[in-house]
Amino acid sequence: MIKGKIRTAVIGCGRVSRTAHYSTLQENDDFDFVAVCDTDKSRADEWAAHNGVKAYYSVKDLLDNEELDFVTVNAPNALHPEIGMMAATRGVHVMCEKPLGMTLKAADDLIDLCAEKDVHLFTVMQNRFNATNLLLKRAVDKGRFGKLLTCNVTVRWHRGLAYYSEDNGWRGMKDMAGGVFTNQSVHYIDTMQWLVGAAPKLAFSCMETSLRPVDVETHGSGIIKFENGVIGTLDLTVLTYPDDLEGSITLMGENGTVKVGGKSMNKILEWDFAEPDAEDDKMAMSSDYEPPTVYGFGHIEMYRRVATVLKTGEGVDDVPDGKEGRKAVEILCGLYQSDETELPVHFPLKAES
Ligand SMILES: NC(=O)c1ccc[n+]([C@@H]2O[C@H](COP(=O)([O-])OP(=O)(O)OC[C@H]3O[C@@H](n4cnc5c(N)ncnc54)[C@H](O)[C@@H]3O)[C@@H](O)[C@H]2O)c1
Repeated sequence: MIKGKIRTAVIGCGRVSRTAHYSTLQENDDFDFVAVCDTDKSRADEWAAHNGVKAYYSVKDLLDNEELDFVTVNAPNALHPEIGMMAATRGVHVMCEKPLGMTLKAADDLIDLCAEKDVHLFTVMQNRFNATNLLLKRAVDKGRFGKLLTCNVTVRWHRGLAYYSEDNGWRGMKDMAGGVFTNQSVHYIDTMQWLVGAAPKLAFSCMETSLRPVDVETHGSGIIKFENGVIGTLDLTVLTYPDDLEGSITLMGENGTVKVGGKSMNKILEWDFAEPDAEDDKMAMSSDYEPPTVYGFGHIEMYRRVATVLKTGEGVDDVPDGKEGRKAVEILCGLYQSDETELPVHFPLKAES
């Protein structure tokens, strides 16, 4: 357990760090934000100056020169496991931005090493902490739906040419980023499996790349059958004209229907149950919020819960860890396998996927 403040460095000084990490760290008294690290020297220098912390240009130098308790890994997707493992090897706790990794093997290597080194591994799944989604999860846990039947995720966002060309173009690279299934929809797939509360059994998908000079999928659909019989469906695109339209999840059961929508699961659009629950039904009327970006406000809650775990050892089940992050990675690997083979895929997948 960490006594005093948690000495923290942010690895990767790009968009998500600027939007959701720096201010959260500066405003949380449990953290001592001491350094940033980016292989792009000018970015590291700029954001070190902005935050009043030290700049490093390689993860190795950062770890060699700072006594850290905790790092957050905000580099491109495929680099999370390798950077996380460098930190874990030194006994530093790790939080990876989404997704935990691009392959199950890489995710498992990181999870196993963190367990061996006795460090915590967290995965940023901040949408679980949307007021809307917390309320929906509570309705599931109270059994208000009766038997769960179907769960639909719809992501109709717009990502233009600039989105794919900036930052060395990593967002258009299949192995580095994944497309709309991974890079935009991993939060939604995670939320689906978290609400459904069962392991996936079977998945089938069709994906396409269109209108953008990239090798990642821009749109597609998928079906996931879960072990408890729930049928999940995915309708995903980043080619919506002219702009972001919807990021929603609809859960239907024997005795209830809820749709959480808006641009990023930030508004309750349907809340119908056979049996009333005065407190929750009232809260459902007032849980909508307007985030400045589709990232929402969940990083604040994510850091708050991480601090509780690191400082007290309590609350480990209240924050997504490596094993929780792995669940969406496994579903995604299955969906990509299905698209490649044009066949349904059965879970659990082999670890080398
Ligand atoms: N939770 C969310 O809602 C959310 C939102 C956006 C992005 N993300 C995730 O955050 C991560 C970063 O995304 P972004 O949009 O900020 O990307 P970005 O390209 O804007 O920033 C990534 C930074 O990492 C740096 N980098 C690359 N390799 C590095 C290395 N080996 N060591 C140190 N720095 C390195 C790059 O130079 C770049 O500055 C991605 O995994 C992305 O999926 C999460």
